[in-house]
Amino acid sequence: MDKISIGIIGAGYIGGVHASVLMRDERVRLAKVHDISMPRAEQLAATTGATVAASADALIESVDAVYITTPNTTHTELAVAAAGASKHVFCEKPMATNMEDARRVLEAADAGRGVFQVGHNRRFAPVYARLRQILLEEHAAHSAHIKMNRGELINPEWVGDSSTTGGFLYETTIHMFDMVRFLFGEVRELTAIGSRHEYGEVDDFSVLLNFESGLHATLCSSADASWLFPFERVEVFCHHQTIVTREMESLTISEGLTGQHRTHSMQQLSKEEKWGYLQEDRAFVDAIVDETEAIITARDGYKSVELVDACYRSVETRERIAF
Ligand SMILES: NC(=O)c1ccc[n+]([C@@H]2O[C@H](COP(=O)([O-])OP(=O)(O)OC[C@H]3O[C@@H](n4cnc5c(N)ncnc54)[C@H](O)[C@@H]3O)[C@@H](O)[C@H]2O)c1
Repeated sequence: MDKISIGIIGAGYIGGVHASVLMRDERVRLAKVHDISMPRAEQLAATTGATVAASADALIESVDAVYITTPNTTHTELAVAAAGASKHVFCEKPMATNMEDARRVLEAADAGRGVFQVGHNRRFAPVYARLRQILLEEHAAHSAHIKMNRGELINPEWVGDSSTTGGFLYETTIHMFDMVRFLFGEVRELTAIGSRHEYGEVDDFSVLLNFESGLHATLCSSADASWLFPFERVEVFCHHQTIVTREMESLTISEGLTGQHRTHSMQQLSKEEKWGYLQEDRAFVDAIVDETEAIITARDGYKSVELVDACYRSVETRERIAF
């Protein structure tokens, strides 16, 4: 069977992470790279054996599968173009930065003949995969407390520019909006409070979530919290049980009423495996080879955009948003 030819649009940090994983997958060939910065495109091409495409359109035209790893507000046009050309598409999160664009991408993905996967990598991170398995097999969770902070909105240089990110929640916290659906199912309603401090946008959020399952949760997310470990944590409360994650490093489960607990550490894994990048790229190629749907679809990408959009509306209107 011919190797699947892949092109990467956006030769920055995460484009490099995906390239490094894909280069070790014998089923694919990294064929093309495109970036608006020619030196970046040339650098990634030189380290991967790919050639530089002069434009995004030329890249899409020439490969079987397209990785979209550019800044957030550029995702929609590229995703619509690639899905519209019936290519397989891996689109980094967020799939879009408003509801209209999310709908356009969803429609293009549904109409296209290729696999469409969104880069919500945390579903593949062993910490969260384990947590979900525990919740499914052993515990009916009652409530949860979730934190997803950032130290700053300074690096890379565009993350503090909401006209490029769509806003802090689209850039960062959207990971946790996908995660809560993965762990707890669909959200029935939410209320959000936000405030503005270091940056020219709302940068601190408190969100109250109510799920169709009856579970309820709080989610806090600050963009100026420093990088104190763990900047990302999920605590789940069940029948005399607490399960706690610490970033992608470890997961602790309490044992009944004695205070005893056991910790599963993922620290021995490489970052690409701990964070799920390796597994999400393998899953994308699996879906292409097996002609199946992606594990994280455009519908999932749409739902996470919908939750972020609802948070911003709730902050603005001070109203509870129902779905
Ligand atoms: N899933 C994750 O854990 C994760 C981690 C990091 C970044 N991301 C996402 O990946 C995307 C890229 O982030 P990054 O950290 O790699 O940023 P980056 O700044 O390191 O890289 C982005 C690259 O895209 C290029 N670019 C910008 N506009 C372009 C355009 N219109 N066409 C072609 N190239 C263009 C830039 O020159 C740059 O090389 C963002 O959407 C970000 O949210 C996801």
